[in-house]
Amino acid sequence: MDQFLPAIPLKGARVIVIGDGEAARAKLRLFAGAPCELVWRPAVKLVAPPEFDEETGAHILPGRFVPPGAFQRAKFVFIALEDEARATHLAARARRGGALVNVVDNLALCDFYTPALVDRGSVTIALSTGGAAPVLVRDIRSALEGVIAPGVGLLASTANRLRDQVREALPTLDARRRFWETALRGEAVARADAGDALGTALALSRALTGFRDGKPPPGQVFLVGAGPGDPELLTLKAVRVLRDADVIVHDRLVPEAILQRARRDARRIDVGKRRGQHSVPQEQIAGILIEEARKGLRVVRLKGGDSFIFGRGGEEAEAVRAAGITVEVVPGISAALACAASAQIPLTHRDAAQAVTFVTGQPKKDGPELDYQSLASARHTLVVYMGVATAPELSAKLIAAGRAAETPVAIIENGSLPEERAVSGTLGGLAALITAHAITGPAVIVIGEVVARAPDMAAGLARQALLEDAA
Ligand SMILES: C[S@@+](CC[C@H](N)C(=O)[O-])C[C@H]1O[C@@H](n2cnc3c(N)ncnc32)[C@H](O)[C@@H]1O
Repeated sequence: MDQFLPAIPLKGARVIVIGDGEAARAKLRLFAGAPCELVWRPAVKLVAPPEFDEETGAHILPGRFVPPGAFQRAKFVFIALEDEARATHLAARARRGGALVNVVDNLALCDFYTPALVDRGSVTIALSTGGAAPVLVRDIRSALEGVIAPGVGLLASTANRLRDQVREALPTLDARRRFWETALRGEAVARADAGDALGTALALSRALTGFRDGKPPPGQVFLVGAGPGDPELLTLKAVRVLRDADVIVHDRLVPEAILQRARRDARRIDVGKRRGQHSVPQEQIAGILIEEARKGLRVVRLKGGDSFIFGRGGEEAEAVRAAGITVEVVPGISAALACAASAQIPLTHRDAAQAVTFVTGQPKKDGPELDYQSLASARHTLVVYMGVATAPELSAKLIAAGRAAETPVAIIENGSLPEERAVSGTLGGLAALITAHAITGPAVIVIGEVVARAPDMAAGLARQALLEDAA
């Protein structure tokens, strides 16, 4: 460890910023809203200085002269001056006054470096490379900003206010640790993320009463869309919810790289389905969700793509709600969107398609047939899920209903994954295209003039046209 980042309380502390320009402003902004006394000493003498800086609330004391005693009670002094001799002199004075000094752009004169901060009120994360690679630090900070829940500060300050009550109710250290482990991952998290201070406090109090009386807090079910497979396509919220889960009930299409985003001690239940063979029947999946949530656990039902697009998420949500358990739905990037993006096929285009429809290639047995007449209308993109096995029938029926046999089509297999493949042809040649390329993985079929707008699809279309001419 090259540096140590201590956490210094700011309550009542005096923080002084000396200098002008953006560097001084940046330091002032850092402390705006903090419970400290913020003083700004701009070197430029203003004609009629305001008493307080509007943006940061800093108390302004303008002028070059820094009187004796100016650094008394100061905890941090930031100096942002061009004049190095003067900066050195003031730094020495501030240090003698007992302050820690940071001189902007002069590492040798610094008692401490300014870390990059992820600021969530009571929760602060500081990052530093000691000035070696600030860009790297900024990138890490952005990544952290994304995964740290927005309500974590509110959660921490509310928990802090409850601390004495918890100590009284739960005398042993072990009981308190177990309580916080469940309470700070429970209902209060969602309340805090929503900025609901009262709701957060009530949720934590309820959790305490329940824990003391031996009743687990109510569990929750999260229907989370895992996207098409590339972990980078998970939403920030999905990552967060996954990380907090106690149990993960997942499909076969969810890759290990995504499951690894969960806590190592989270229990995984694989209810993977393959085409035509459901390893765990649907009613049983809902039963598992309910049973686990009733134990007071945070249950994540993780599905490929989006749960509400050909994912039977609606049925699961209904069953869980009917059991009196709260459901939250976290959307995911559906295969249609991911595959179209990857192959650069615009699903709508003002000159080629005014509508897009997601269609299943495997409608419910004994259910209504697809309405081929409306699906066959021109200037309309179709994205077919689970359509590889039924593609010959689909293309024949669409053509019979009036869609031109020359309509461009693309098949994108394993979209967003390293083994992704995209091939193109025409609606009339769809079945032959699938056979020729031995498409077996999960794939979507895009049907419509938009396919011809994609740069890499043109070659496939030209080849197919040649084959059809030759035949
Ligand atoms: C049961 S559906 C689930 C769809 C999922 N809920 C979604 O929103 O993407 C399974 C079908 O989604 C499509 N699919 C899922 N992941 C895919 C991928 N990575 N690439 C291409 N198609 C995919 C395939 O058509 C597959 O047969």
